Amino acid sequence: PIIHVITPTYSRPVQKAELTRLSNTLLHVPNLHWILVEDSQRRTPLVTRLLQDSGLNYTHLNVETPRNYKLRGDTRDPRIPRGTMQRNLALRWLRETFNRNNSLPGVVYFADDDNTYSLDLFEEMRSTRKVSVWPVAFVGGLRYESPKVNAAGKVFGWKTVFDPHRPFAIDMAGFAINLRLILQRPQAYFKLRGVKGGYQESSLLRELVTLNDLEPKADNCTKILVWHTRTEKPVLVNEGKKGFTDPNVEI
Ligand code: UGA
Ligand code: MN
Repeated sequence: PIIHVITPTYSRPVQKAELTRLSNTLLHVPNLHWILVEDSQRRTPLVTRLLQDSGLNYTHLNVETPRNYKLRGDTRDPRIPRGTMQRNLALRWLRETFNRNNSLPGVVYFADDDNTYSLDLFEEMRSTRKVSVWPVAFVGGLRYESPKVNAAGKVFGWKTVFDPHRPFAIDMAGFAINLRLILQRPQAYFKLRGVKGGYQESSLLRELVTLNDLEPKADNCTKILVWHTRTEKPVLVNEGKKGFTDPNVEI
């Protein structure tokens, strides 16, 4: 199966660095299609060039998260999850592009632009029949969060401290979905409104599967293959108001 990797991304000083690192990872993965969705009014030259030069098989989309979803200035409404409209656009694109009866086998994975992905992760998810799951490091105030797996290899709950009673107490980086299931449930999207923190993933997954359907990967969820790393914001104070460095140099 081909892996469709969906990545929301937005313009900020570290964007090109993040996308360079992620594309370098994805280049090692055979049979992969990168759906990069910019949170912007139009597709930007920076991202367009990066994709063209990447050597990857990709689709470049954009949708801007509306201003009224933001508080003043740059602070986003914390009730509006990040990257949601972008992931939903990619889901719609998949449904408009592939036919539910005769699409080639595929697996869909939501990969944020700042996480760290092992190459083994992609081979683990490739065999996803419905929804596969695995642990994610550095989330929920823990070294890692993980699905709980019983001796029979069934997921029966969530080893998390933050709200383990969520239907699917799992980070975005911790699951993959068979494309056929996405096409069979055309109404399934991430909910935009009224989603409490930590419930975004559940809002989609509950439309697709039950706990009993989940397929644990990474040696029955005993191995860490993805890290929820976050990049420090660079200190640019010496740029001053007018900017010190050449603004024509892309970073
Ligand atoms: C956590 C989860 O791991 C994310 O999957 C979830 O979307 C997010 O919380 C959330 O609050 O909803 P976190 O590291 O806090 O992740 O979020 P970011 O990495 O800053 O953003 C997630 C993705 O959305 C990234 O790929 C980022 O580039 C993108 N994004 C972020 C946008 O497209 N627009 C934004 O305004 C912010
Ligand atoms: Mn992140």
